[in-house]
Amino acid sequence: MRIDKLLGNMGYGTRKEIKGLVKQGAVSVNGERVRQSSINIDPDEDEVSVWGEIVEYRQHIYLMMNKPGDVVSATKDENQETVIDLLEWEDAVREPFPVGRLDKDTEGLLLLMTDGKLSHALMSPKKHIEKEYEARLAEPLAEGAVQAFADGIELADGHQSEPAKLEVKEEGSEPVIKVVLTEGKYHQVKRMVAAVGNKVIELRRVRIGPLWLDEDLDPGEYRDLSEEELEQLEHALYYQE
Ligand code: URA
Repeated sequence: MRIDKLLGNMGYGTRKEIKGLVKQGAVSVNGERVRQSSINIDPDEDEVSVWGEIVEYRQHIYLMMNKPGDVVSATKDENQETVIDLLEWEDAVREPFPVGRLDKDTEGLLLLMTDGKLSHALMSPKKHIEKEYEARLAEPLAEGAVQAFADGIELADGHQSEPAKLEVKEEGSEPVIKVVLTEGKYHQVKRMVAAVGNKVIELRRVRIGPLWLDEDLDPGEYRDLSEEELEQLEHALYYQE
């Protein structure tokens, strides 16, 4: 890999800026000062440093965000704030993308990553990765709703949903339910709830496969996935094959 590409990926600036750093003698490979920003290095073998500080190269970044209910889960939007706008510069510069979409008004667990292969696998309907949601409803749940979810609801557009788990977590005039799905169609929870004659008034995703939303993250906050979480995710995908 070219050293300017590696340093660009790691947030050290544009190709021109990195050329400037090299010219100033800031960049070394295995302790030797680099003279050209176009040289090739092996990120797994070579030790790159900038102003004496070792650059830890990570091929991909994997982030867990607690998405707030007022931003869109897209990489770009003409008029609205996106989840990418919430990232620190050093993460945004790696150009991660959200894995799937949550509605603008949905809160909770959103993964962002640069790894297209893993993202694709997570989204694949063949993998049946569970997604768990908590939803506050406008009114008490109709009798038979739990069974209807378990049987697989037919949505208004004719789509036959996969069987889903529905549990009441909090009774009351605006009950809170837990829904576990293995697919991710547009507005799926809202449409399934509508199909049993109710309405979602708040929606939050709390889990994707083995990964739970870190409750220490306030809405809008995010962190890197730990090595262990990443392994759990890969393991869940591997055993779904
Ligand atoms: N189901 C919905 O209706 N909305 C979401 O954002 C996610 C699942």
